[in-house]
Amino acid sequence: MTRRISLTQYLIEQQREHGQIPQELRLLIEVVARACKRISISVTKGALGEVLGTAGSENVQGEIQKKLDIIANEVLIEANEWGGHLAAMASEEMEGIHVVPNRYPQGEYLLMFDPLDGSSNIDVNVSIGTIFSVLKKAEGGKGVSEDDFLQPGTAQAAAGYCVYGPQTTLVLTFGQGVAMFTLDREQGSFVLTSEGVKIPEDTKEFAINMSNMRHWDAPVSRYIDEALAGSTGPRGKDFNMRWIASMVADVHRILTRGGVFLYPWDKREPNKAGKLRLMYEANPMAFLVEQAGGAATNARQRIMDLQPTQLHERVAVVLGSKKEVERVTAYHLEAGKK
Ligand code: AHG
Ligand code: MN
Ligand code: MN
Repeated sequence: MTRRISLTQYLIEQQREHGQIPQELRLLIEVVARACKRISISVTKGALGEVLGTAGSENVQGEIQKKLDIIANEVLIEANEWGGHLAAMASEEMEGIHVVPNRYPQGEYLLMFDPLDGSSNIDVNVSIGTIFSVLKKAEGGKGVSEDDFLQPGTAQAAAGYCVYGPQTTLVLTFGQGVAMFTLDREQGSFVLTSEGVKIPEDTKEFAINMSNMRHWDAPVSRYIDEALAGSTGPRGKDFNMRWIASMVADVHRILTRGGVFLYPWDKREPNKAGKLRLMYEANPMAFLVEQAGGAATNARQRIMDLQPTQLHERVAVVLGSKKEVERVTAYHLEAGKK
């Protein structure tokens, strides 16, 4: 019989063998995984669970909230606030931070999440997910504030996502490679299904929302034009395109078979660095992608080196197969200014 390694067993063995996962962090990840399981159950129920459609409210970014955005946010908060492992949480769906209430013990970790990524895909039954990033509160200092969260991506203690697709898959890193766990629905547990995930250096697949083409900056147009020119163009090979509109699902494909993902700055809203959020979308994905041998930049600099100044800060994102990310970044640096 093939030996099945559960998430719990994996975490305990990592802790024992490499001493890299402190007890509190292990608990935190187990709790997040349990919350993702609950979200997965709601997602799967769809119309039968009355989880589809809009909630009739807006989040801090001015986006209409879907019922599942709110449900997923509540599930993550409820699951995480009582265990004693966290000091506070921050989410795409909450303007300020959620400090662990006084009635519970306070831990040292900070958890940030995009509770439901790919909201536009909920009602059409296309893959969606949850993205999360774990930081540690700086030592000393009483209480916890938003400033404690403003740490660069390089400070992440762990990061991951859970994709709710034909399979529910949890993908994790603690800075020692990337592991994937598939949810066994009958057993109700996550089972290790791949370890040491590696993104191929070269790829023939790109992901970008082509409908924004007329708003792009010249280096982005150059990169995509060259890819579209195919085997007779400067790249000398044909490219394929995919755009799921759930970052989680696009990144999952890239971790599985390579590719490059771009959500660049564009001229629609020139004062916004990009659409995606640095703290709970770009940083955790950048950590995973780098741990799998890929790269992640804002088209100029490494994403994980950026010093955040706001919880809901936006950022341009280019991530995936290393050589392609380096090419896109080089085109921007060559072109000089934005
Ligand atoms: P969210 O649902 O958390 O707001 O995130 C959606 C993001 C991301 O998942 C995806 O890559 C991108 O928005 C899609 O944007 P477009 O609709 O502009 O293509
Ligand atoms: Mn998102
Ligand atoms: Mn979201």
